Amino acid sequence: MKALIPAAGLGTRFLPITKSIPKEMLLVVDKPAIQYVVEEGLASGADEVVIVNSRQKQAIEDYFSPAPELAAELRERGKDAYAALVEQVASYPVSYVYQEEALGLGHAVRCAAEACGDEPFYVLLGDVLVPGNAMLPAMKRVSDEHGGASVIAVMPVPSDQVSRFGVIAGARVQEGSGGDVWKVDGLVEKPAAEAAPSNLAVFGRYLLSPRVMELLAEVRPGVGGEIQLTDALDAVLAEEEMYALVVSPDDGYDTGTVESWLDTNNRLYAQRFGEGR
Ligand code: G1P
Repeated sequence: MKALIPAAGLGTRFLPITKSIPKEMLLVVDKPAIQYVVEEGLASGADEVVIVNSRQKQAIEDYFSPAPELAAELRERGKDAYAALVEQVASYPVSYVYQEEALGLGHAVRCAAEACGDEPFYVLLGDVLVPGNAMLPAMKRVSDEHGGASVIAVMPVPSDQVSRFGVIAGARVQEGSGGDVWKVDGLVEKPAAEAAPSNLAVFGRYLLSPRVMELLAEVRPGVGGEIQLTDALDAVLAEEEMYALVVSPDDGYDTGTVESWLDTNNRLYAQRFGEGR
């Protein structure tokens, strides 16, 4: 089973630095943002992470590649702990496919169709970090309880924010300390507040059936002229069940804007090293 990370975006909100440094490579405390996401994917039991990259973002691939000369030099100088860090990131099972044109999230996911084969797959959107790595395993448990159905993470948002997200329609089927579970019966991408079927917004973590990948080939451009993953999820409901695990917005650390990236750095730093330092 693969974990997909779409990473081909232009990083517009971080220009001008994203002219030369991919947004995914920006430091969050002590490692690049994408390393958190790769580690989360691997902690979910995926056997490989597939990064949907753009040809312009070679820096991501360099980062996860072996650097034996650097590691050897560090060891020679007695800096074994640093050498171990250099070797660790190169040991992760990461592969790449390319999105040649920015045609939307659904299109990015579809670029990994061959890599995923006929298996369920995870999708992890890199703008939100989930450092505890607990969300995907919780989603997998819900899927296992419902015969391997697709499961998406959703979070409650104020109604004036629903238009920024995919939003689900459905009904709660389970109450739980780890989060309520809803059975999904519709999804709509970026609805107007008055048209939103609920206030539960798609959070950016998905466990999807292989049928979603097939349906993506047929999805026509939707909101913003882009091929939307949300539209393929809505289409699959005609054939398969889907569930949503309600997570708390606090379970994720946003890095999608300069402001939220800075805030995430501060919060994770405080957590890791203690407030008073
Ligand atoms: C994407 C998805 C949307 C989801 C959001 C989560 O939108 O299309 O359904 O709610 O991620 O962050 P984007 O943020 O790429 O516009």
